Amino acid sequence: MLRTLQLERHGMADRPYRIPVLRGTVRKGARSAGVARWVASRLAEQPDVETRIIELESLSLPANNEGTSIRSQAFSGLVDQSDGLIIVSPEYNHGYPASLKHALDTNYTEYVHKPVGLVGVSTGALGGARMIENLLPVLRAVGLVLIQRDVTIGNVAGAFDDEGQLTDERSVHRLDGMVRELLWMAATLRRGREAVPTRLEFAADTIACRDCGTPMNHHATVIDEEAGGFIARVHACPVCGGNTAERGGIE
Ligand SMILES: Cc1cc2nc3c(=O)[nH]c(=O)nc-3n(C[C@H](O)[C@H](O)[C@H](O)COP(=O)(O)O)c2cc1C
Repeated sequence: MLRTLQLERHGMADRPYRIPVLRGTVRKGARSAGVARWVASRLAEQPDVETRIIELESLSLPANNEGTSIRSQAFSGLVDQSDGLIIVSPEYNHGYPASLKHALDTNYTEYVHKPVGLVGVSTGALGGARMIENLLPVLRAVGLVLIQRDVTIGNVAGAFDDEGQLTDERSVHRLDGMVRELLWMAATLRRGREAVPTRLEFAADTIACRDCGTPMNHHATVIDEEAGGFIARVHACPVCGGNTAERGGIE
């Protein structure tokens, strides 16, 4: 069994950590689907963690437009409510699948100051390592926080036994280590989002939480290019953890 981080013992789990697993391809019969199920099941063993697999296909994103204007309420809502993300993706021609980038581009503020863990998959020996390297600058650009560890599953065609368990113990240990780092980062960044303002705040900037009325902390400012360079200010409630994005003018 995966060693647990005991976030609760350290007083860090007043509510569960939501870490969805985003599957990076819509290819029929994709072998990375089995990897995503394995990752989600190991993650779900953690006592203070809630997870679910997000299937790109279920988002029904239009193919005739790009960016936040084609956002899926379901996807954006899940990312907004999350404390981090794991992406399980195959390597296609040394890069990431176009369908993954298409979906990632539909959110912005929802990602800011949340950690992301990566699991690469390939039939070749490198396990999607080139996909991971190519994806890193994209993830940073949308506001996600990178962590040091990742997992590569090479030779995926023979990687699982009949029960859907990975046969290579080293990959199990690598996932174990990546999950521990991700949860530490998720706990640390959630505390930061809720308690630490990113700049000096003026009284006029303070807005009340929609759910409980508590004054919220401002923890990110994002330029929304689609809205003509407007600023979106992201606030987090220090009491109930709710997030809200507020549009303003150019700062
Ligand atoms: C369009 C395409 C490009 C691919 N390019 C690579 C590649 O660059 N390197 C690699 O190791 N495997 C590559 N593969 C094979 C995948 O590693 C293989 O399909 C594996 O099962 C993981 O992807 P899947 O989740 O789509 O099954 C490619 C597969 C497709 C469909």
